[in-house]
Amino acid sequence: MPDNPLTNLQQQRNKSTASSWDITQPHRQQVTNQLIRHQLPANPRLCILGAGNCNDLDLATLTNTFEHIELVDIDRSAVEQGVASQQQQDSPNVTIHGGLDVTGVWDQLAALPNLEEKSDVAIDELMQSSREWNGLGELGEFGTVASTCLLSQLFDGVLKTVGEQHERYLEILAAIRQRHYQLLYDMVSPGGTALLITDFVSTETAPDLPNLSGRAFSRRLEQMIMNRNFFSGLNPMRLTKLLHEADFLSGPVANPVCSAPWLWNLGSRHYAVVAIRFQKP
Ligand SMILES: C[S@@+](CC[C@H](N)C(=O)[O-])C[C@H]1O[C@@H](n2cnc3c(N)ncnc32)[C@H](O)[C@@H]1O
Repeated sequence: MPDNPLTNLQQQRNKSTASSWDITQPHRQQVTNQLIRHQLPANPRLCILGAGNCNDLDLATLTNTFEHIELVDIDRSAVEQGVASQQQQDSPNVTIHGGLDVTGVWDQLAALPNLEEKSDVAIDELMQSSREWNGLGELGEFGTVASTCLLSQLFDGVLKTVGEQHERYLEILAAIRQRHYQLLYDMVSPGGTALLITDFVSTETAPDLPNLSGRAFSRRLEQMIMNRNFFSGLNPMRLTKLLHEADFLSGPVANPVCSAPWLWNLGSRHYAVVAIRFQKP
């Protein structure tokens, strides 16, 4: 779709947060450390899905660790500017894949509001296309693959088009989530690590989060999860548990684990974030 409104919204959001390099420093350090820790010597290639402004990636540090870094996003211009602002535009080790959709159904999703009553047929077709999408095999395999605060944006696309009042809303989120896990799985080489780094609640519903730290911060988040105060479909415990019962993936996974949470300061809001990782045996 030449003028996909969901893509336009992502571009606007990227523009509005492009200058948040300084305030995102602690988040960047967390994300960068997670990636470095899971470099695979046999395949030192890193792929980032949802790289956007790259404010969560210390590219100088990452290029010292990984032989090659591929940055994927629907918004090419955000990634180009993010890479340039870190003076990495001429780095032979960094490749940008702009204008690339990670769902296979982004245009189909954007067209849904125009279809009468978002019919069951249209939704069935959407979920079938998502399942049958070939993925990003053309990029090859990576020792480390990470999705960085992208899944919440994919879910926001479903919220904007299908709406949370729709009786099949949660079913569609589950289908997108499953396809996203499968995409990570397919892109990882044997022995490699996939990381689903995701925001799951914000100060909009938990204004006290920035005042907490250490155990008090973790305890507050545990309490919020118990009270179902998290973004739909993004309960970190459920996301991790799914990997323990990973019969929905095309092969086995090893060592699924969820990190301790941290806070991502994005100016107008703060977000709680975790990294859920697994290995492909
Ligand atoms: C919250 S931002 C990630 C933030 C970024 N990693 C940073 O810290 O600067 C989510 C990113 O996902 C991208 N995105 C959203 N939907 C996408 C899709 N269907 N395919 C590929 N990228 C998408 C957006 O363009 C945006 O750059």
